[in-house]
Amino acid sequence: MFKSKIAGIGKYIPANTMTNEDLKKYMDTSDEWIQERTGIQERHYAHRTEETTTTMGVEAAKMAIERAGTTAKEIDFIIFATLSPDYYFPGCGVLVQRALAMNEIGALDIRNQCSGFVYALSIADQFIQTGMYKNILVIGSEKHSFGLDFSTRGRNISVIFGDGAGAVVLQPTQKANQGILSTHLHSDGASAELLAMYNPGTHANHWVKEKLATYNEAEIGDMFMTKEMIDQAQNFPYMDGPAVFKKAIVKFPEVIIEALTANGLTTADLNLLIPHQANLRISQFVQQKLALQDHQVFNNIQQYGNTTAASIPIALCEAWEQGKIKEDDLVCLAAFGSGFTWASALIKW
Ligand code: UT7
Repeated sequence: MFKSKIAGIGKYIPANTMTNEDLKKYMDTSDEWIQERTGIQERHYAHRTEETTTTMGVEAAKMAIERAGTTAKEIDFIIFATLSPDYYFPGCGVLVQRALAMNEIGALDIRNQCSGFVYALSIADQFIQTGMYKNILVIGSEKHSFGLDFSTRGRNISVIFGDGAGAVVLQPTQKANQGILSTHLHSDGASAELLAMYNPGTHANHWVKEKLATYNEAEIGDMFMTKEMIDQAQNFPYMDGPAVFKKAIVKFPEVIIEALTANGLTTADLNLLIPHQANLRISQFVQQKLALQDHQVFNNIQQYGNTTAASIPIALCEAWEQGKIKEDDLVCLAAFGSGFTWASALIKW
């Protein structure tokens, strides 16, 4: 079995910045509320027509591929994590294969929202360990700005999310005691509807049930996306923020300790924790709970907001660029989000 290492890492942040003040043009909110509750000062939004989840992922991927000292032709598998894909189907993975003129390699899309990147990394790690692939491109990318409710009705969510992409290239390592030490994946579907986008979808929601009561052959195709669904903002994400918060502050520490314990390590051994950037208050709570020093935790939600599947690779890339991750450092990635799903990865850099 081979261990896998992150051989190259890249990110792409769209140029357009949206500050908290800017958001006041669209909804009833304030810089004070947003900073106090989330720590966010600004976020970046993709160009409305020129940039997509895939194009941002491609830019991050180019940087990761170059830094790994390889080429797009050498990549032998793609894993793409996102909740805001260019199309409902096909997934973004094949669009990356096309954009980078890669060989006819496998391309897999992951739908695990905020935990998506860690899930994707875990899958890539298994393929490297078995020797099946040697050069896997893992991308997390989101274009949230296209699918948010910018009226006051949606302010608890729309102020949080931002756009961007991060990517890594995973390769087998020849060095002993280097690379991904373990990954830990979890889910609890009992709370699936507490953080979700309900429509369009194929679930038997009550709009469909109402329609079925007066079932009419001619109407069958109208149930996927109706005017009523749009009127009731069902096409935008829904979140019970306080419920998600309460669960997150339990599961984040749990999955970090699980990773350390599985490797016979403790929080004192940790050089850097990169938590999914959901809310600065959540990160601070986790830091306090685990008694970590400031230099052991990396946060950049202040500048980017919550970029869901992209948040961990963007933060990892930025921490590495700032010299905060050096060879032999112990780095823990941890995520929690919609599903609920949560996950961690422990890496000896
Ligand atoms: O990444 C995926 C996982 N997601 C998370 O981990 C998010 C977890 N949840 C959170 O981060 C927080 O729950 C939020 C930041 C989303 C919300 O903060 P909160 O302290 O839980 O606020 P709340 O939802 O309980 O709302 C408190 C008040 C409400 O007003 P009333 O009912 O007290 O009058 C909201 O209407 O704040 C109001 N509010 C806002 N006010 C100004 C909600 N959003 C806004 C806003 N601006 N943007």
